[in-house]
Amino acid sequence: NWIIKSFIEEETEKIKQIVKDDKVILGLSGGVDSSVAAVLINNAIGKQLTCIFVDTGLLRKDEAKKVLEYYKEHFDLDIKFVDAKNRFFEKLKGADEPEQKRKIIGHEFIEIFNEETYKLKGAKFLAQGTIYPDVIESQSIKGPSHTIKSHHNVGGLPEDLAFELLEPLKELFKDEVRKVGAELGLPHFVVNRHPFPGPGLGIRVIGEVTEEKVKILQEADNIFIEELIAKDYYGKVSQAFVALLPVKSVGVMGDQRTYEYTAVIRSVNTTDFMTATWSKLPYEFLENISNKIINKVNGINRVVYDISSKPPATIEWE
Ligand code: XMP
Repeated sequence: NWIIKSFIEEETEKIKQIVKDDKVILGLSGGVDSSVAAVLINNAIGKQLTCIFVDTGLLRKDEAKKVLEYYKEHFDLDIKFVDAKNRFFEKLKGADEPEQKRKIIGHEFIEIFNEETYKLKGAKFLAQGTIYPDVIESQSIKGPSHTIKSHHNVGGLPEDLAFELLEPLKELFKDEVRKVGAELGLPHFVVNRHPFPGPGLGIRVIGEVTEEKVKILQEADNIFIEELIAKDYYGKVSQAFVALLPVKSVGVMGDQRTYEYTAVIRSVNTTDFMTATWSKLPYEFLENISNKIINKVNGINRVVYDISSKPPATIEWE
């Protein structure tokens, strides 16, 4: 695709011209946008780019490890890994309201990011994987009557930011970003990854977040996602995940009574994420997921499937 190819050529040239001999910092999340931005910039300026990867403890199972290994091996990215799990769990203690949790996670993230950038003295630019819809959305959620959920991808950074921003994907839509990623050699599993919210599993453990609950959720979510991939449904749905409810219910396992958490399976189809319908996954598939989760994950004895459309429900539970 020549449009994509010439975009890459032009952007690479532009990045070189703007950055010159200076240093660039980029927050790598493992998602499509920041990954594509990282590889694009890395191709342009190589070791002048340092990526910061913050392990919040709220990522999918083994995600941090997988992302790091992959980028180090295939793209020779310079990645600074920050293990911040304990800080997030500590800060989230006692918080059970969605917006409160988002604020805590967003603030903590920015604080850690600032500390790390401070340590990497001398960078002039901050690169971000901002895409066109982020720009639009962050403009609209600033209006006082429009704050439905506060996304912290854009606009969470301090006003007096000492960096110049480098946002090479700012004018692209998601499908264009995926094409650029594929052209740059990013693997299918990164390019076609479902969106993952900034606050991560912090808003998928409903109510108070604890390390123990996150572990339970990670296991269940991993079973669901791996089955979707194995049975070739992953690419046919737009976003899929498990959420953990703070509700315990009674069950029976062998001759034992159990009293454990409830997991919600959520899968939606959508083009713009503003409206969405629940995915009509086959009953046998759902049955298999439910059995696997209940049998394999300690702490869950009941699985339900969310059949709500957006609107009036949202995609996430919080
Ligand atoms: P909702 O739940 O509002 O989600 O229907 C729409 C899309 O946005 C994602 N989402 C978020 N992304 N920070 C993010 O970066 C957030 O706080 C957040 N909340 C929701 C959600 O995963 C879905 O793709």
